Amino acid sequence: MTVDNQLKAAAATAVAHPNIALIKYWGKSDERLMIPYVDSLSMTLDILPTVTTVALGPEERTDRVTLDGSPATGDFRQRVVTFLDLLRAMAGRDERAVVDTRNVVPTGAGLASSASGFAALAMAGAAAYGLDLDPTALSRLARRGSASASRSIFGGFAICHAGRGGGAAADQSAYAEPVPVTGLDPALVIALVNAGPKAVSSRAAMRRTVATSPLYQSWAASSKIDLAEMRGALHRGDLAAVGEIAERNALGMHATMLAARPAVRYLSPDTVTVLDSVLRLRADGVAAYATMDAGPNVKVLCHRADAVRVADAVRAAVPDCSVLTAGPGPAALLRTEAGR
Ligand code: ADP
Ligand code: DP6
Ligand code: CO
Repeated sequence: MTVDNQLKAAAATAVAHPNIALIKYWGKSDERLMIPYVDSLSMTLDILPTVTTVALGPEERTDRVTLDGSPATGDFRQRVVTFLDLLRAMAGRDERAVVDTRNVVPTGAGLASSASGFAALAMAGAAAYGLDLDPTALSRLARRGSASASRSIFGGFAICHAGRGGGAAADQSAYAEPVPVTGLDPALVIALVNAGPKAVSSRAAMRRTVATSPLYQSWAASSKIDLAEMRGALHRGDLAAVGEIAERNALGMHATMLAARPAVRYLSPDTVTVLDSVLRLRADGVAAYATMDAGPNVKVLCHRADAVRVADAVRAAVPDCSVLTAGPGPAALLRTEAGR
């Protein structure tokens, strides 16, 4: 690399959005390479972005990481440093980095901060270390930070392939790609029943589920059927079918966690209250379907035209909960110097 290019590549900023899976990823076949057990399919959101700047610091002796302007510590810092080590190995370089990341998305609340966070870090980090990666390679890279992040490289709907074989073959084949969808104008109404951080990280919870839940294998098998049917429903632009499949897939995933030993339970009384309001909406003829991730917050899939009615119903059910409405969002993007 020329000196000029090196200077240009020495700092980069990227923006990425969280994504919510309609067919969930839960469980890894290889924790080191971050290979999911199952395929997953998601919608990237148009709200709650992460903005991350990676600047190389040839003078620095250690990596410096700040989250929302404060020094990151513990596991948060360690996951970023491990990811930077991977970038350095790929680039054949050894400079330390200064990482400034800002989450609009609540961190660790089951709203996919690890997805927007590692998609933004992958994109900014690759650019800062001078790696020229296409979207597929960026998706594989983001997966190493958090498997759900592989999908946030892309906008709209994306499928993440679980990967075939083991080792390098699995690493190569586990990446996300866009799923073209026409004829759907969806919204996800997000009931923020608790924006605080979860007690057990997704990573630890899925490890325990795979190791101890007697229901895990059957959920993984049924998830294959869900995915095949989901692809058909998306292709037809059939929101009711998309919603039904997403809801059963998510409830099945939570059932596997509840059967883990000890149980992993993310759903709270307020979660169930929102689920009841979704059932009432359906009884009233509104196509509304719920999905939940590793946290108590509920995302309700509906037609965009019904989003206000759905949001009102959720607010009425849990009066002190904030409600956000998202649509399909953009792919992760590198910010140009001028746009910074
Ligand atoms: P979530 O439901 O928010 O995705 P997870 O348990 O999957 O929760 O992941 C939370 C972890 O994701 C954090 O502890 C941190 O390691 C990582 N993370 C979140 N935001 C960022 C970010 N902006 N940059 C780097 N890592 C992040
Ligand atoms: C329930 O991708 O956050 O949101 O790969 O260990 O970082 P790690 O876990 P993560 O798990 C996401 C779990 C989920 C479902 C999904 O997004 O597919
Ligand atoms: Co996550």
